[in-house]
Amino acid sequence: MPSEDAPSLRTRRLRIIESGESASEPPNAFALAVRAGLRSDPKTLPCRYFYDEQGSRLFEQICDLPEYYLTRTEDSILLDHAHTMVAGWIDAPVMVELGSGSSSKTRRLILAALQTYRSLQYVPIDVSKTILEESAEALVEEFPRLQVTGFAANYRDALAGVVERFDRPKLFVFLGSSLGNYEPDQAVDLLSLIARSMDPSDRLLLGTDLDKDPKILEAAYDDAQGVTARFNLNLLERINRELGGNFAVERFEHQARYRNDLHRVEMHLVSREDQEVVIPGAGLTVKFSEGESIHSENSHKYNPAILDELGNRSGFIEEDAWTDADHRFRVQRWRSRSGQSSHSRTEV
Ligand SMILES: C[S@@+](CC[C@H](N)C(=O)[O-])C[C@H]1O[C@@H](n2cnc3c(N)ncnc32)[C@H](O)[C@@H]1O
Repeated sequence: MPSEDAPSLRTRRLRIIESGESASEPPNAFALAVRAGLRSDPKTLPCRYFYDEQGSRLFEQICDLPEYYLTRTEDSILLDHAHTMVAGWIDAPVMVELGSGSSSKTRRLILAALQTYRSLQYVPIDVSKTILEESAEALVEEFPRLQVTGFAANYRDALAGVVERFDRPKLFVFLGSSLGNYEPDQAVDLLSLIARSMDPSDRLLLGTDLDKDPKILEAAYDDAQGVTARFNLNLLERINRELGGNFAVERFEHQARYRNDLHRVEMHLVSREDQEVVIPGAGLTVKFSEGESIHSENSHKYNPAILDELGNRSGFIEEDAWTDADHRFRVQRWRSRSGQSSHSRTEV
């Protein structure tokens, strides 16, 4: 049975910091993004807005689907190599995770770090505050020598806060092939931003999905149970909930298409008929013709040569890399070629 002061001890090991308003995240950012995306040709919506509370829960279900090999495969690589991945410092580095979600795979790294070092400061970053809080609470409960400082913020704002607060060696962690949501130039921008946040003793652990048979890829993003379809359609439901839209989601169809030329799986929401949708919170009335799509997500797939080029352009040098027996997924440990990364500003 827990002692009476257990909750306050736990509270002392857990802190959540919210970014609040900032130059890169105005309060009506979602409305502005919806307005811009649905007025463009072809229509688009940024995939970062998938992750409201409902979207984050659906993503957790996706991770357990038989077709979604990504989570299982990356987890097996972390299980096999976690101790090597976290090694190399005298005292534990601060573990900073971008897009931490439920932090479920990160537990492998946290456990290995706590077996290697006396204690650990873990800094998860996620725009989805609910999932961040829930996973942070579960982690401090599970690991008594763990301190958690979560940032409920976008990558850019949170990284600035992390560098300001933690003047110690860091291990940055970016899993789940979340990098794949970015077009190559945007990926270089984000990686460059990470590289510029790093000191020579810091490292980045980057998990990326590898290119493979299109049938395997398309099934991973269009499962038989229809969970990914619900995840994609939740974007329209979120517009209804938060911006007063009147999308009838049954009038849209989820599609996942592999683009061989661009090495990526695209997710689309395709209008089943000619229709008009009103979104008061975005000051928008938008017309759809039958078959017209909203492009909602890219998931780029990689090979070692593409990764090498991305790393080079962003100011990184590869130190080590691990893959599974079937070469489905790759986790690499990179160090920054300090001060040499190029950087231009896009929304991350
Ligand atoms: C594909 S999920 C991956 C979750 C987990 N890392 C994994 O590997 O299973 C992406 C996560 O990143 C978060 N996210 C997406 N874009 C973000 C951004 N620009 N800034 C901060 N968090 C973001 C989402 O809320 C979500 O939890």
